[in-house]
Amino acid sequence: MVKKNACVFISGNGSNLKSLILRSRDKSFPINISLVVSNKKNAKGIIHAKKNSIPYLIINTKKNDFENRILEEVKKYKISIICLAGYMKIISKKFIRIFSKKIINIHPSLLPKFKGINTFERVLINNESKTGCTVHYVNEKLDSGKIIVQKSFFIDKKDNIKTLKQKTQNLEYKAFSEAIINVYRYN
Ligand code: GRF
Repeated sequence: MVKKNACVFISGNGSNLKSLILRSRDKSFPINISLVVSNKKNAKGIIHAKKNSIPYLIINTKKNDFENRILEEVKKYKISIICLAGYMKIISKKFIRIFSKKIINIHPSLLPKFKGINTFERVLINNESKTGCTVHYVNEKLDSGKIIVQKSFFIDKKDNIKTLKQKTQNLEYKAFSEAIINVYRYN
């Protein structure tokens, strides 16, 4: 199997990035992580790129042409799929159009419920019985693209923001890998 080159976009801890790097060591996993992009110069997750000798780009989003810079790098590394893993910046319509390949995102709720930020708070306020995570294709509307994988769990009375986050993230690692396998199942 010829692996596809993937780029992971991050803004924070990069625990999903770490999990994807580990998973991609498996010969039968369809992607290699060939590039990491961070819009935060102090993002903790960059350490995983460094430790694994993966090229990384720290992008200054205050510059008007920052997405063009990303597109240049993505082209250079022949990226077939972009995985958004806690990237806290909206991808522009123009970027989606120009890249024209697969872009997928992981979101910490059972979409279409709780699009956007502060999901755990809203899940608790709404007295949901279940929550989880969703991996979906990225389209021009926030958190609205076709769903690839969703994983859920029942909320315990004792759960709080911290425990929901932990439980959700543990599911995210599995969901992201499964989604990538699904994306390449038939091509
Ligand atoms: C994840 O919970 C993801 O669902 C959300 O941002 C978080 C990123 O966590 N979009 P990490 O940086 O991968 O640890």
